[in-house]
Amino acid sequence: MMEIKARNYPVFISRNISDEINRYFNAKFFSKLIVLADENSLTYCYPQLVAAIPAFEDAEIIEIESGEQNKNIEICSQLWATLDELGVDRQSLLINLGGGVIGDMGGFVASTFKRGISFINIPTTLLSQVDASIGGKVGIDLSNVKNLVGVFNNPEAVFIDTNFLKTLDNRQLLSGFAEMIKHALIADTSHWQKINKADIKTFADFDSLIIASIDIKNRIVQDDPVEKNIRKALNFGHTIGHAIESYFLEQDNKQPLLHGEAIAAGMICETYLSGQITGLPGYSLKEITAFISSIYPAIPISKSDFERLTELMFHDKKNVNKQLNFSLLSAIGKCEINQTASLDLVKEALIYYTESY
Ligand SMILES: NC(=O)c1ccc[n+]([C@@H]2O[C@H](COP(=O)([O-])OP(=O)(O)OC[C@H]3O[C@@H](n4cnc5c(N)ncnc54)[C@H](O)[C@@H]3O)[C@@H](O)[C@H]2O)c1
Repeated sequence: MMEIKARNYPVFISRNISDEINRYFNAKFFSKLIVLADENSLTYCYPQLVAAIPAFEDAEIIEIESGEQNKNIEICSQLWATLDELGVDRQSLLINLGGGVIGDMGGFVASTFKRGISFINIPTTLLSQVDASIGGKVGIDLSNVKNLVGVFNNPEAVFIDTNFLKTLDNRQLLSGFAEMIKHALIADTSHWQKINKADIKTFADFDSLIIASIDIKNRIVQDDPVEKNIRKALNFGHTIGHAIESYFLEQDNKQPLLHGEAIAAGMICETYLSGQITGLPGYSLKEITAFISSIYPAIPISKSDFERLTELMFHDKKNVNKQLNFSLLSAIGKCEINQTASLDLVKEALIYYTESY
């Protein structure tokens, strides 16, 4: 077992997480436990937990349908109403069992219900284990714009068991891997080298890479919990990546994109901007582009999409005074925050992406 101290809350990482969860419940009192899950986390993860954690036997279960399109205010309304019907009070605990959608939305619902009840995260996807479950950003999409409504609020604790990743398909694992690539690029050259050698066909021996990634995210978040400065580095790839993700969410005829797939495309675009704005050397631009494009299939984007994509970028929360704000690389392992780019340059970056394949 390994414990990482996050800001005011512990992150437990273990291959037998039930022991840690039992210890946690033995030391705490809650008037009621509510498990929020989707059909996959309920099928693949809940049974092992309930078999090993006596406190879970009396827990209420709320199941929602999986998918980013459900991370919205309508589902939140239903969840608040259900918590009320179940008699949830301020001594109750919401247990977010699932990926980033469950963690983001469950955290938001808990943070706002009766002005806030406690919650813990048991992340069950690679993406949520290395990124979404840590750092206290909770929220939902509004009119398909990513994470437009939310708050900063920390969980009571995070329990990570990499055994849960066994039932994730390779596409979902690669989605999480994109955030691990980001962590390496913004903060740690040696992590980048290890990430380059990772076995992404089988994801074998990944625990140490996962721990290193969590550690990078945690360190950055500890230094700047409410994103006044250095935490913005974690948004590398996300100004353009979120716009791509939102764009595909709003187009019913487009194939659904996973979060990490959109971020991978965003990172290629923003690596191009890094070459233009923050002096990222040409050889690093080539190295990063070749690595990411060798892993993630090309997302079909054409010039006719550029206008809406750039409109969506103006919803990004980092923007100030209607200026697009980027976190860009000056070298592999080094990120410069609060960079701006003209629309023409952003369009060049999108063209660079389409030509990278
Ligand atoms: N709060 C943050 O700091 C932060 C950071 C990064 C991403 N995010 C958010 O996280 C979300 C993406 O997270 P995600 O990729 O985990 O998506 P997700 O929650 O949609 O999960 C992906 C899929 O995996 C399934 N699943 C979950 N656990 C499983 C398991 N053990 N076995 C098999 N299937 C399983 C889910 O049902 C879903 O179909 C996005 O909404 C993104 O905006 C938040």
